Amino acid sequence: MSETTPRAAGLDFLYRPITVEMEATTALLKERLFGLDPAFSEYLDHSFRLGGKRLRPALTLLCGKAAGAVDRRHYLCAAALEMIHTGSLVHDDILDGARFRRRLETVNARWDSQRAVLVGDLLITRAFDLICECEDLALFRKTAECCRATVEGELLQVDSIGNFALTTADYRKIVGGKTAALLECATHMGAYLGGARGEALSAFERFGAALGIAFQIVDDILDLVGDEAKTGKTLGTDLVNKKETLPLILYLQNASETEREETLKRLEAGVSLDERSEFAALLTASGAVDAARAEADALVDEALEIIAKQRETGETEESAQAFDALEALARFVVKRDK
Ligand code: IPE
Ligand code: IPE
Ligand code: MG
Ligand code: MG
Repeated sequence: MSETTPRAAGLDFLYRPITVEMEATTALLKERLFGLDPAFSEYLDHSFRLGGKRLRPALTLLCGKAAGAVDRRHYLCAAALEMIHTGSLVHDDILDGARFRRRLETVNARWDSQRAVLVGDLLITRAFDLICECEDLALFRKTAECCRATVEGELLQVDSIGNFALTTADYRKIVGGKTAALLECATHMGAYLGGARGEALSAFERFGAALGIAFQIVDDILDLVGDEAKTGKTLGTDLVNKKETLPLILYLQNASETEREETLKRLEAGVSLDERSEFAALLTASGAVDAARAEADALVDEALEIIAKQRETGETEESAQAFDALEALARFVVKRDK
């Protein structure tokens, strides 16, 4: 399997304006995860071994640079958000019964779900220690809000398991919580700490939110038609776990009565991982995958427009590279295959 690290995903090029800052964030992550109590290092080390794309820290750092300057509090927030993200994935893998993540066995597969619940909690609670060090109640409130929204989104999704009558509005609500809240928090914190306030701050926040939904749409497309060797994680779990995502919603909305009934019958009876490619072919041929991709494209266009306006109102020579990278990152979200 190929790796899902920033370098492997082609992101280290986009992260160039923040190379030093990303290194500082990684150093902080390591220090806070492995340096404190060796009793837990095995679990934490495992959860971070291959790193992932580090999208959320990158957004915090880039938005910080785009809005003003980056300081130590950016590193604290960026590291905290990556811990929260990883903690939510450790929990999500229990919910989805996933076996692989970042090319390694999931915590629930390697140990058990008891430990995965607690390792996820450990990551999230350690994140709050870092936020506390910023000594700013606004950041603490934002983090709490984002964690609440993430959990609510996951819970809404669990509550809708087996419900194949979801609307695109239901889907947006789930995804807005479980994924977009964290990206919105990442862009908000970066810009806030870089000095943005009022309309400027809200623009960075909306950029993160739009990007977050687009990101999850693409993730849901990859769950269906992606390549496990590239993503490094178990795919097909949405179908197997009866979690209806955008491509399927769009397919069922546009299928003929007979096609709809036949597909629903199969879904309700339960689909195995082996049937993923069949569903992938069906939804691709129907145009539903392209239609879902078009929604992600439209959201990224929205995000690009927001950031372009922001650029006009406040770009300095210093921030130009960060704005360029934010734009490229937004495009990467829909182009990616990992
Ligand atoms: C996976 O996130 C979970 C979703 C929100 C779709 P990423 O695709 O950012 O995972 P890593 O951090 O790169 O492993
Ligand atoms: C995202 O949903 C999970 C969280 C936002 C916590 P998925 O279940 O689609 O994420 P992956 O595909 O397992 O990474
Ligand atoms: Mg999952
Ligand atoms: Mg997924």
